[in-house]
Amino acid sequence: MKVHRAEFRAAANTVASLPPPSLPEIAVAGRSNVGKSSLLNAMTGRRGLARTSRTPGCTRGLMFFEIDGWMSLVDLPGYGYASRSQSERSLWKKLVEHYLSTREQLAGVLILVDVRRGPETEEAELAGYLDSVGVPYAYVLTKVDKLKRSALSQQTARIRRAVAPAIALPTSSENGSGVDALWRWMRAAIETEAEE
Ligand code: GTP
Ligand code: MG
Repeated sequence: MKVHRAEFRAAANTVASLPPPSLPEIAVAGRSNVGKSSLLNAMTGRRGLARTSRTPGCTRGLMFFEIDGWMSLVDLPGYGYASRSQSERSLWKKLVEHYLSTREQLAGVLILVDVRRGPETEEAELAGYLDSVGVPYAYVLTKVDKLKRSALSQQTARIRRAVAPAIALPTSSENGSGVDALWRWMRAAIETEAEE
């Protein structure tokens, strides 16, 4: 899918500062440094839309980006950022859980996982939480360009077995592979949401 207009709309680091509901939203979640902001840029074809960094914890708060006036992508703050204080972390968790459990127009969540690591406790917890609040999700395997073909197919198969019946979509923000499949999933999730 070609994106014509991708615009930063809002940043929220408290419940009160969440922007008023408007368009359907797809949220991008995953541990720090997994490649959330890079994927947002790859999906929109805008290199500098979301700030990316080698330093974990670059994205703070929820960032809302409007896409061609029909949907918004929401960059969630990364979890598993150890050097952040316990109280700060529990605050983030509260804000993110508030958002995930109450946002009417939330059509789906992408759970990003580094293909070399696969899902760990935090991802399983997030998936369980989304099951409990009834929000659809898909796993997105990031940085597939970092593995050789045979290692990649083994690792993809292993992760797919582990997350089934959820789906896992392999992607690379470096070369854009898998981004179209991601758009197809998001579009379907938004259409399903609209029918409910
Ligand atoms: P936080 O905002 O800290 O939660 O991190 P993030 O999940 O937004 O990660 P970010 O997009 O900033 O990427 C982290 C690092 O991984 C950067 O150095 C990126 O260049 C690199 N990276 C992200 N995606 C890919 C990819 O598909 N391939 C490769 N080779 N590197 C990637
Ligand atoms: Mg980020």
